[in-house]
Amino acid sequence: MSARVTAALALALSLALLASLGVACGGSPIEDHPCPPGGTALTYDNFGKGFFEGWCVQCHGGANGYSSRSYTSLDLIRADRARIFVNAADDNTTMPPGPDDPPANERAKLGEWLACGAP
Ligand code: HEC
Repeated sequence: MSARVTAALALALSLALLASLGVACGGSPIEDHPCPPGGTALTYDNFGKGFFEGWCVQCHGGANGYSSRSYTSLDLIRADRARIFVNAADDNTTMPPGPDDPPANERAKLGEWLACGAP
């Protein structure tokens, strides 16, 4: 292997490592957001479905080349809710990538809905 190829590989590997650390660490966990004592008025039908369809399923909609992670049903979202929280709820802004972000109040609602078990 030439030195140039080795250097390029090393660079690619460190970038991949940095990217994975950035996505996996940083961010407040779902335990930081207790469900309010009275529960939540948010449901999949009045909030979750619209949120995920508006902000996530263009990439997390199954086999579209971006991600194998699919958020097209309540069961799939519930199963991944801690990971979704740490990437997208409250003050966590890793997802969606890019400049087009849900407003803070939508992220806060996502936090409450997930914290209450995604009813
Ligand atoms: C522009 C495309 C795009 C959009 C929009 C998007 N994501 Fe992602 N997301 C990705 C890609 C690419 C990955 C990395 C591959 C993977 O882990 O599935 C990822 C990874 C993730 C992960 C896994 C992170 C980890 O812990 O490794 C979660 C959780 C996630 N996205 C949630 C969301 C949520 C919630 C939304 C909507 C608010 C969203 N994403 C919007 C492209 C997108």
